[in-house]
Amino acid sequence: MAGARLQFADLEPVGPGTPTGRYFRSFWQPVLRGKDLRAGRARPVEILGEKLTVYRGEDGVANVTAFRCPHRGTPLSIGWVEGDGLRCRYHGWKFDGAGQCTEQPNDDENFTHRIRIPKYPTQEYVGLIFAYLGDGEPPPFPRYPDLDQPGVILADPVEVLPCGFWNRFDNDHSHIPWVHRATAFRTGRKDLLLLRQEDVEETPYGWIGYRSVKGEKADGGRAFGIGRLTHFFMPNVRLFWAPTRAKGFEGRKLFDTKVVWTVPVNDTSHAAFDVTHTPIEGDEGQAYIESRTRQQEQEAETRWDLAEKVLAGDMTLEELPDDMGAYTSFAIEDYVTQVGQGPIAGRGREALAKSDARLILLRKLWLREVNALIDGMPMTQWKIPEKPLNLAASGQG
Ligand code: FES
Ligand SMILES: [Fe+2]
Repeated sequence: MAGARLQFADLEPVGPGTPTGRYFRSFWQPVLRGKDLRAGRARPVEILGEKLTVYRGEDGVANVTAFRCPHRGTPLSIGWVEGDGLRCRYHGWKFDGAGQCTEQPNDDENFTHRIRIPKYPTQEYVGLIFAYLGDGEPPPFPRYPDLDQPGVILADPVEVLPCGFWNRFDNDHSHIPWVHRATAFRTGRKDLLLLRQEDVEETPYGWIGYRSVKGEKADGGRAFGIGRLTHFFMPNVRLFWAPTRAKGFEGRKLFDTKVVWTVPVNDTSHAAFDVTHTPIEGDEGQAYIESRTRQQEQEAETRWDLAEKVLAGDMTLEELPDDMGAYTSFAIEDYVTQVGQGPIAGRGREALAKSDARLILLRKLWLREVNALIDGMPMTQWKIPEKPLNLAASGQG
């Protein structure tokens, strides 16, 4: 379709065959958090407008395959995991680890050799299960050197928000003193209240943003330290640093490296897979993991109920419980603004300002690449730097 010029609104649909769906599918994407899938269990997932079954074989290896049984369409996730394969609950057809049908127990004359379900290349990394859903050979699996350093790696409870993925992509840094105001006051984080500005530029991997206090040209990191930088890896991965918010570790001047994959579930909802690296090890690392996970996993069960109450006007963000962890209150604060914008935020009716530079650049890169894809032209081969970005950011590398 040479010459087709997509507009920004054309980038919202994500299903198979759509321009955005095709672009996303040319990269590995996370589909589920590893700890949410025990060995011998299967779950249905939806990602990029496509339903899938994710299961962990009895050998502990994660697999991604078709959502439905090819016999009569029963979801395979309600069947049984057997060895490294699956058996359908309806009539017992069995599929091996390669997706090949090996048993049709009710039929003497069977045609198992002709039945095969798709199996997608699958990898587990930093606590997440990734799949490659595109055509042909998958690209090399991308690793992030910042997450491959010694320290604690934690994958947070996956956030699924009932709004399109652009609502999160467009989440600029100038929202922080407003959206996160309640948390800033509750936790005494005065730095969060500073008005800020950001300069952004394209890089070989996507873009980098430099933040500074509004009105100060470049603050050299005085106000925000390493937190002044945001990196974005095309097509959908954001890396930044934030002071550790785990209870009992707040005063330690520790920074989490946060890497967030924003993945569309479908056209009007998205998932955020949030992984942090924190540079502590041994017993202290263990204590940190316990402090973070106990509270966060528990609070995740009810956090969206609270967010919906705020959206309904039944409570305000200032009324969140005093002892709520800051990871949870941050998530609730972002939920109410992004979900509140609408399932597909009224794009096209926006009034973009100079402070929207980040999203203007991101939209430009996306449009350029997706237009190249549908025109059959070469796309940018994005390159993740080989050295951890935190070394360069802290002046050590
Ligand atoms: S529907 Fe799966 S075996 Fe019949
Ligand atoms: Fe936020």
